[in-house]
Amino acid sequence: MESPSLPVTAKDWTSTSLHRVLCMQGGEGDVSYVNNSDCQALAITLCKPILISSLQSIKLFTSPIIRIADLGCATGSNTFDTVDTVVETLRQLFTAVYGGGSLEFEAFFCDLPSNDFNMLFRLLSEKQKVDSAKYFASGVAGSFCDRLFPRGTIHVAVSLSALHWLSQIPEKVLEKGSRTWNKGKTWIEGAKKEVVDAYAEQSDKDLDDFLKCRKEEMVEGGVLFVLMGGRPSGSSSQFGDQDTRVKHPFTTTMEQAWQDLIDEVI
Ligand SMILES: C[S@@+](CC[C@H](N)C(=O)[O-])C[C@H]1O[C@@H](n2cnc3c(N)ncnc32)[C@H](O)[C@@H]1O
Repeated sequence: MESPSLPVTAKDWTSTSLHRVLCMQGGEGDVSYVNNSDCQALAITLCKPILISSLQSIKLFTSPIIRIADLGCATGSNTFDTVDTVVETLRQLFTAVYGGGSLEFEAFFCDLPSNDFNMLFRLLSEKQKVDSAKYFASGVAGSFCDRLFPRGTIHVAVSLSALHWLSQIPEKVLEKGSRTWNKGKTWIEGAKKEVVDAYAEQSDKDLDDFLKCRKEEMVEGGVLFVLMGGRPSGSSSQFGDQDTRVKHPFTTTMEQAWQDLIDEVI
């Protein structure tokens, strides 16, 4: 299970500044993302055949450098498996066509500025001691809802288990007394239609911004691969069936935990 951390004060906690304060738990302790991301690792394993087959549709560039971006990489180590899959698949593909040559890979690990990049690069340097250096690496701190790279520079962009994060709480659900006010709740589980619509609107906007930015940044003929959570259109529950809903911590259980924290403070 992913473990978000909240290094916030009440002053920070505004709808639009979420991206500056929310992040995966850093470090490598018991509650760190590194030690609590098996679900996401499984998702990567399950989608690997689809990722490989999408990569095989890439245009065969003659560029000596292939640039890869992992958007929403967290602190590791899943992102390394993802980038390894991309590098290995493309190396084989390009070697089969052009021979070994001098092809080089550059990987950009991208996440919000609050991400624990120190952890990411520590793990990466340990990994690269045992791997033959397969790629050059850089960190990019920023939101994937904004431009992160110069025009036409990225050959492959991947985003796994990240794009369903909203860039902000929809303003409308915070407007006290309005029809869209999501009083006493933090999400759409069992919420009014107006609230569900407000979240859907925010989600549409974020996805639109993401795609517009990637359109600018990507090289024509490149590959954009996205794995993200979703729900049936119009539904007021995140998960379709009752059984999944009950088991999943992001619905009523998470909401109850927030309420318990509030009750403790009051
Ligand atoms: C559940 S983690 C997934 C990490 C990794 N892709 C994996 O599969 O293990 C989601 C990541 O997306 C990042 N994220 C969420 N919204 C983002 C945004 N707007 N821009 C960049 N990163 C974002 C979070 O900070 C978090 O590290």
